[in-house]
This record gives sequence, structure tokens and C-alpha cells, in this order.
Amino acid sequence: MESPHNQAAWLSARSKRPLEVQSAPYTSPAANELVVKNAAIAVNAMEWSKQVMGNYIFEWIRCPFVMGNDLAGQVVEIGEEVSGFKLGDRVLAHAISMDPTINKSSEGAFQEYTVVHANLTSPIPDSLSYEEACVLPLGLSTAATALFQTDFLALDYPTTTSKAAKSTVKTVIIWGGSTSVGSNAIQLATAAGYDVITTASPKNFEYVKGLGATNVFDYNSKSTVEDIIHVLRTKKPVGAIAIGNNSTEACMDILAKTDGSKFVAQISFPFPEKAPATAWQLFLFMMGLMWWNITVYFKSVRRGVVTKFVFGSSLVQNDVGAMIYNRFLPNALENGEYRVVPKPVIIGKGLEQIQAALDVHMKGVSAQKVVVSL
Ligand SMILES: NC(=O)c1ccc[n+]([C@@H]2O[C@H](COP(=O)([O-])OP(=O)(O)OC[C@H]3O[C@@H](n4cnc5c(N)ncnc54)[C@H](OP(=O)(O)O)[C@@H]3O)[C@@H](O)[C@H]2O)c1
Repeated sequence: MESPHNQAAWLSARSKRPLEVQSAPYTSPAANELVVKNAAIAVNAMEWSKQVMGNYIFEWIRCPFVMGNDLAGQVVEIGEEVSGFKLGDRVLAHAISMDPTINKSSEGAFQEYTVVHANLTSPIPDSLSYEEACVLPLGLSTAATALFQTDFLALDYPTTTSKAAKSTVKTVIIWGGSTSVGSNAIQLATAAGYDVITTASPKNFEYVKGLGATNVFDYNSKSTVEDIIHVLRTKKPVGAIAIGNNSTEACMDILAKTDGSKFVAQISFPFPEKAPATAWQLFLFMMGLMWWNITVYFKSVRRGVVTKFVFGSSLVQNDVGAMIYNRFLPNALENGEYRVVPKPVIIGKGLEQIQAALDVHMKGVSAQKVVVSL
């Protein structure tokens, strides 16, 4: 059979913009992989950060390269050891070309045909559009890694919410609940039976409560750390997930003063409101980041709180990937017990629109996911 013609939106050279739409090889799947013909993709900070910061970030990636984490589409080829999928299935998947152990353009989402791992792929119900479904993967994987991997919070696995008896005491702190990662973390922790305390802007309080959070505080308020410590006097924190600027420091302060886990899963590093645009700004940013890492290290020693940075695709290597994508999510989506959030904002149609989508995301979003239809 002749291979389909493939096209990709390439990062053609270091820090080059816009992405260039050109032919790309079609790659067949290995034994535990599938090929998906993409119908919609979402964009993330990970991709525009790589474009802006060149080799200061994800330094293993060499251009030309195909980035992209979030996709939904139809299965067109199946590896010989894959079970549970058939040709034509509608799926969402986390594409992991940017993972250091993968580092292959064939696995990037910003193209027509992507090779994905079966344990990071879920069937989706007919009621869900591809644009709705593609909002989940990177946020879902990152949240699941932080919550369930044994080297992070190692919480109990989620079940359908109707089965999990929700604890009022065993509490997870999710700083940054209205982010894509946070929206997934709230839903997963709730489905695993934990009580959730989160932060968001006041306009998103109802949104995060609707996802399952019990208490929500404004991350911009000076009293939030003390307010959370106050709520936790009758609860037992099982750890914290730190998303957004200042979140790691805030979570360390909370866990240091409460009776429970002393572990912070760190999702973000501090990023200026305006992305560095010149080599000098980038240099200053990197110096600031090094200094920040040093201060966080000393703070963690002083507070007796451990912090560890999450890499959101590491679940491909362990049981958490299959648990989420093959066992939990398909039923939870089918039953309507897992919400596809943040809601998509569709920028346009075609690979040429991906640069515009990255630029929109870089300016900042609130409880939204930036999506391109293909
Ligand atoms: N380590 C990894 O593997 C990994 C993977 C994915 C993402 N990330 C990182 O995780 C962070 C979130 O990414 P995302 O895609 O989930 O975000 P996103 O959805 O693009 O984030 C937008 C949201 O950020 C919230 N926010 C802004 N500043 C905040 C702060 N200081 N504290 C708490 N919330 C804040 C805003 O909340 P309001 O609108 O309510 O103000 C807004 O809703 C980024 O730093 C990203 O680089 C890391």
C-alpha cells in the first residue's frame, strides 16, 4: 500500500518563526504504537517556549523539528502488539515528540499524520467533537504524572466519581486550578476520592468548583497562603501541585505549616508576562531562572519540604499512562463523568494557523485552550 502524503508545520531552524508548512515523511507505527490522521490539535506553552527560547530549553531538540502535544483524529494504522483499537476509531492522544527519550518529529502533533503510543491514546465518544477532545492530552498527562506516579504524590488511582467515596480530610492542594493542567488535576484528584483546595482568579471560582474543588482562593490575594493553612487545620494534606508563577513558594509555605505530606510536584518555572524577545532579555531570563532555582532549593531545605519538577510525558514509561488513557478516561468520557476542559477557542483551519494559535496562547488565556482544526 502506498503511504499517505504527509505535511507538517515545522520549526525549521532554532527560534525561527513562523512555523513552515512543508512535506513530512509518513512514518508507520512500531509494535505498541498507532498512526492518527489528525482532525484537530491544541497548542501549549511548551511549544512556543521552545520557539522563543531556542536551545535554552529542550536542548536535545534539533531543527528542523515537528512539535505539538495535543491531538484528536482517526486511527489509520495500528502496530502489531496494540489491542483495543481498530482502524477508523475516533481518538485523542498525547503526542510526545518533545520528550527527551523520544525526540522524533514523527511523534509531533503539528502534522497531518502522527505516530502515537497506545498507552497515551483514548477512544472518544461520538458526542465529542475533535476540537473538544484535543484540549485534554498534555494537561491530563501532566496532572496524572504529578498525582499518581510513585515518584510524585503517589495517590490512589481515579475511578468513576460515582464509585469513589470522597474524603473530606485527605486533601490535595492544586495551586492554579483554572489552568489546563489544574483543570485536569482537580477532576482526577476528585475522581480518586480526594478533597481539593485550589486557587484561581475570582472570575473562575465557579468553574473550578464545578470541576470538583471544595475550596477556592484567589492566587493574587496576599492572605491566600494563610487562608489555606487555616482551612487545612482540620484536614490532612497529601501533597501539592504547584502551577503558575510563585506557586512553588506558596505551596512550600503551606505544607511547611500543616500536618501532612511535605511534597510539592512542581509544574511551572517562573515566566515573565512578556516572553523574552531579544538575546539579551533571554540571557537575563535564564540568569533569573538559575537564581530562582537556587532560592527554591534553600527554601525547601529550610522548610523541610521536598520539591520535584514534573515532566508531563513520563507516564508513557509506566502504568500511569495506560491507567489514565486506556482504563479510566474512555469510560469517564462515555459516562460524561470527565469534562473536556478548558473549553476550546478555535483559531482557524489548517496547519498554517498553528503559528497564529501559538501567538494567541503566548499572549495569555484564561480557562481556555487554543485549538486549530485540520
Ligand atoms: N511540567 C510539565 O510537563 C508541564 C506541562 C504542561 C504545562 N506546564 C506548565 O504549566 C503551566 C500551566 O500550563 P497550562 O497549559 O495548564 O496553562 P494555561 O491553561 O495556559 O494557563 C492559563 C491560566 O493560568 C492561570 N494563572 C496565571 N498565572 C497564575 C498564577 N500565578 N498562579 C496560578 N494560576 C495562574 C490563569 O488563571 P485565571 O484565569 O484564573 O487567572 C489562566 O487560567 C505553564 O507554566 C506551563 O508551562 C508544564
